[in-house]
Amino acid sequence: TAAAQETASGSGDGDKKITLGFSQVGAESGWRTANTKSIQESAKEAGFDLKFSDAQQKQENQIKAIRSFIQQKVDVIAFSPVVESGWDTVLKEAKDAGIPVILTDRAVDSADTSLYKTFIGSDFIEEGKKAGQWLVDQYKDTQEDVNIVELQGTTGSAPANDRKAGFQDTIASNPKLKIIASQTGDFTRAKGKEVMQAFLKAHKDIDVLYAHNDDMALGAIQAIEAAGLVPGKDIIIISVDAVKDGMQAAADGKINFIVECNPLLGPQLMEAAQAVVAGKEIDARIVTNETTFTSEQAKEALPSRQY
Ligand code: AHR
Repeated sequence: TAAAQETASGSGDGDKKITLGFSQVGAESGWRTANTKSIQESAKEAGFDLKFSDAQQKQENQIKAIRSFIQQKVDVIAFSPVVESGWDTVLKEAKDAGIPVILTDRAVDSADTSLYKTFIGSDFIEEGKKAGQWLVDQYKDTQEDVNIVELQGTTGSAPANDRKAGFQDTIASNPKLKIIASQTGDFTRAKGKEVMQAFLKAHKDIDVLYAHNDDMALGAIQAIEAAGLVPGKDIIIISVDAVKDGMQAAADGKINFIVECNPLLGPQLMEAAQAVVAGKEIDARIVTNETTFTSEQAKEALPSRQY
């Protein structure tokens, strides 16, 4: 109908502005900062009324935020779930209230996929596989064991689960590649540094660090340097995201390989939100396009990097 179209345009004229309730994970990383900026700017551009809530990496805060959006009768709810499990009840409440939900960045493990309209974001298993494949290629002729330590993302989050699984499955093709320690660094720089310090104390023979994001790798680099070792040489480093600081470290040779994870999900989210509010059918899965960077490629890409 014309009314639906007017609503869907979200142009901001008249009183038909779309109200979007967005519950963000937190502000744990450079990736997250870029993601928040993209969502806020795109909402403004699309003429949306954005209600933005930061959950500080706590599921209970996200559930509270979603309930408050339901109470406020927003037109559409979007969120990036901090962990994968435990969403069925609150998603059912949104569905019963007739408010469509869009997942961005991270997935939920709910069996009932009618609880949300679409999931927009990266394929984290694929990211883990790309990281693993690079390592497999680097060490294809090795006669010796390669000792890998892993800094995992937030426990129970989709990117931590999937990046671990994709990597593990891929390196399994070479039994010389061994994960000797694996612990969460919560996707933060401070935790990445702290856990890497502990790894270095416990293991004298670390060859490779696989960090589930750039921020943890950057924290770990501080710990490696403090231990008198050279990051990128004494310890080969692989990470995920490709935010500016990570790309700079790669260009400087401190990170050897980065798998890109695109945080600029705002425009796709606004488009999807307009469509669902207008009652249109949309794809159940919208995957973002991503690449990878060696140190050389990071050097080339850095000047034109947006985030
Ligand atoms: O969900 C995406 C992940 O969350 C990013 O890779 C990480 O940096 C962020 O904290």
